[in-house]
Amino acid sequence: MMKDLIIQRIKDRGPLNVADYMSLCLYEPNHGYYMTRDPFGNAGDFTTAPEMTQLFGEMVGIWVIDLWQKLGCPEPFHLVEAGPGRGTLMKDVLRTLQKVRSTCYANAKVHLVEISPHLKSIQMDTLDDHDDVAWTSNIEDIDFDAPVILIGNEVLDAFPVRQFQKTEDGYKERIIELNENKLSYATSDRSYTFHNTDAEFIETYDAMEKFLRSVKRSIKKGAALFIDYGAMSGHADTLQALSKHQTVDVLDNPGGADLTTHVNFGFVADIFGSNTLGPTDLGYFLTQMGLPIRAATLLENTEGTERENLQAAIHRLIHPSQMGSLFKVLCWRTQGVPDPAGFQNTFFQ
Ligand SMILES: C[S@@+](CC[C@H](N)C(=O)[O-])C[C@H]1O[C@@H](n2cnc3c(N)ncnc32)[C@H](O)[C@@H]1O
Repeated sequence: MMKDLIIQRIKDRGPLNVADYMSLCLYEPNHGYYMTRDPFGNAGDFTTAPEMTQLFGEMVGIWVIDLWQKLGCPEPFHLVEAGPGRGTLMKDVLRTLQKVRSTCYANAKVHLVEISPHLKSIQMDTLDDHDDVAWTSNIEDIDFDAPVILIGNEVLDAFPVRQFQKTEDGYKERIIELNENKLSYATSDRSYTFHNTDAEFIETYDAMEKFLRSVKRSIKKGAALFIDYGAMSGHADTLQALSKHQTVDVLDNPGGADLTTHVNFGFVADIFGSNTLGPTDLGYFLTQMGLPIRAATLLENTEGTERENLQAAIHRLIHPSQMGSLFKVLCWRTQGVPDPAGFQNTFFQ
């Protein structure tokens, strides 16, 4: 069991920092949370936007088509999704491409970047109807010989973070140790210095930074779109554990609960630098993509509980008190690519 493995690891090698704890809990090959289960949906631990309604993937599909046209309708182009979960978002995107712009669909070389072999097998079933789909666990393994459009929903929040607490002796790292054989938080003996801040609490993002830099290095022409729960800074303890749609103690059930953090979009924008658009609110982005129009058509054709569920999902996606402004959308594109749809042309609007 994951808990025994972590306890033994601490006994053998000493306390873990939060990033190492997250990595083990989520991605340890035999027991890690994402490596062993399908956590999505009502029967699982959490629900993501594409699992709530097909509208989400359809609107991302419209964004892809618009950008493909702005790129000059390249034949072929690479359509990449990072962290595809069950494959539902890509399924809805591809259906939209097929229906709205079949030449865009026909020219898409699809790549799914997935770290979990278990989720990869679910994605293979979901995308069974589509040819020309390839999988990799590392974006740098893909040979991008044509323009690239990359999408990633709720993938950045799954990267391990380190955490630091301000003390009288400088910043100390939050670590996980054993207290009477139970996992508990402590702080490192070692002190750290952070420049240009006196925040009480700091999260750092080595794993996400490595991933974003590989996205930036790999895409010679094209764009990347990231959608996630987040804010503009990382000056808070945002680590949370979710099990059966409830917040639970981070240390209670390692490997048995999802662990996420809020994405620091200011940091993401700093890594990408110029040519970054957003972050903008998810509600704004989806509305710009035409969600209300498409929603009206879908609602006309549904009734009863299905209609109520659809209405609830639409409300959740676009209302400012819900995902509409809690979720953000950020786009980075290479020099010279025209502005993609869905953003106001300001940096850090
Ligand atoms: C919270 S799920 C989001 C799934 C999906 N995008 C959705 O919206 O339903 C995170 C996904 O990212 C994958 N993942 C996490 N870290 C990854 C990494 N370093 N490289 C590729 N995939 C990763 C997980 O296995 C999982 O498929």
